[in-house]
Amino acid sequence: MKFSIKITALLAASFLLALPAAAQQKPYEPQVGQAGKDVIWVPTPDEVVDRMLRMAQVTANDYVVDLGAGDGKIAIAAAKNFGARSMGIEYNADMARHAQGNVEKAGVAGRARIVNGDIFVTDFSQATVVTMYLLPGLNMKLRPTILAMRPGTRVVSHSFTMEDWDADEISSMDGRRAYFWVVPANLQGSWTLESGGEKNELAFEQRFQKIEGTIGLGPQTQGGLRDARLRGYNISFAWVDNKGALRNYSGRVTGMRMEGSWRGDGGAEGRWSATKK
Ligand SMILES: C[S@@+](CC[C@H](N)C(=O)[O-])C[C@H]1O[C@@H](n2cnc3c(N)ncnc32)[C@H](O)[C@@H]1O
Repeated sequence: MKFSIKITALLAASFLLALPAAAQQKPYEPQVGQAGKDVIWVPTPDEVVDRMLRMAQVTANDYVVDLGAGDGKIAIAAAKNFGARSMGIEYNADMARHAQGNVEKAGVAGRARIVNGDIFVTDFSQATVVTMYLLPGLNMKLRPTILAMRPGTRVVSHSFTMEDWDADEISSMDGRRAYFWVVPANLQGSWTLESGGEKNELAFEQRFQKIEGTIGLGPQTQGGLRDARLRGYNISFAWVDNKGALRNYSGRVTGMRMEGSWRGDGGAEGRWSATKK
């Protein structure tokens, strides 16, 4: 009898001791405007998240990284609505834990995850799509890292530009803008083109995704390239040869080499390749 009174007293005491801890374990409730490291938390509205992921044409083959993940909503939407793998990088540890909880609640823990990290330290070079809702200065600080990513990587920013790197698309929803870019291959400089049994010198001037070029047609003659266009690693251009025929080229850039197919308006066609000098 004495023994059971002791046990009951012990249980009651441990229950009382546990109370303050239980009271402290209220669910974490993030507050809009709360501090992050470089920018406060303000969530992107659902319809803007949806448009951002559609602009990037996200599919199940993509790996989407949201820089500054907040409550995880972009990483979750990428996994849940588009079947992508995703990662959100969030500096605020409480927020990162909360966002990971949201990932689990949304049933996408197999494809999405939130890491507690700093966007200027955590590696996201493997992303095929990068999303962000940061600040103009932070976009500019990230720009060199983004431009060094694999050509063809798609980037979407809610509200903020990347200054003189013009967007490839701007969408607006209820006054909010989303900007879209494709990381361009590096073409700048001189190349040797081989096509139709001939060799010509190609020279490109590049400013982000905008390219202009010339083709050597004789010792003193440089023809201008027409309709030169670069989208990620896809390139197309045209030039008029010494017989007056327009030749259209399209292909793909892989580092120091590019190759594809060409077609002349006289019916000639074939494969082409170029190597960087
Ligand atoms: C404006 S909110 C955007 C949240 C989410 N991406 C969205 O669009 O709903 C920016 C988030 O970035 C986080 N953040 C700020 N500086 C950061 C840094 N250096 N590294 C990682 N996250 C950061 C903030 O804590 C905040 O949650």
